[in-house]
Amino acid sequence: MIKSEDTQAPDMDKLKQVLDHYAHAEGSLITILQKAQDIYGYLPLEAIKLISASTGVKPAKVYGVISFYAQFRLSPVGKNLILLCQGTACHVNSSDKIEEAIAEELGISRGDTTPDQLFTLNTVACLGCCSLSPVMMINGQAYGNLTPEKAKKTLREIKGSQSPHS
Ligand code: FES
Repeated sequence: MIKSEDTQAPDMDKLKQVLDHYAHAEGSLITILQKAQDIYGYLPLEAIKLISASTGVKPAKVYGVISFYAQFRLSPVGKNLILLCQGTACHVNSSDKIEEAIAEELGISRGDTTPDQLFTLNTVACLGCCSLSPVMMINGQAYGNLTPEKAKKTLREIKGSQSPHS
């Protein structure tokens, strides 16, 4: 049995179904990794081992692909994934100030997750809605024309709506 570094080993059944379909298809590694991340929210060690064993791609190469693409994560994300745009339009419109405000409000830096697992902060190159810059996206919803205060307020509202007592 494969030993996992995760405290609780994730269930591999869904990933096995994906691998039944794709493991031997040429050039399918990225698709498999995307589907695995859709299942677990990140790429657990167990999943990487299973993908490597099923596809015959060496773990080092699988990790190489994972680290090449910013979309892949090796650790769990919080309930709310913040994608802060760092593209040119957003950068010119002071996205760095928005990042500072988020860091101040949540006490995390980019790539981090809050200890309560409520938020993860990631940055992206362009969200495709530059006319709204600076922009952040949270769980697929875009928040544009941000100011530091507006960003903080948005986070507080989400926090408030998701507190255990609400
Ligand atoms: S540069 Fe930020 S949305 Fe395009």
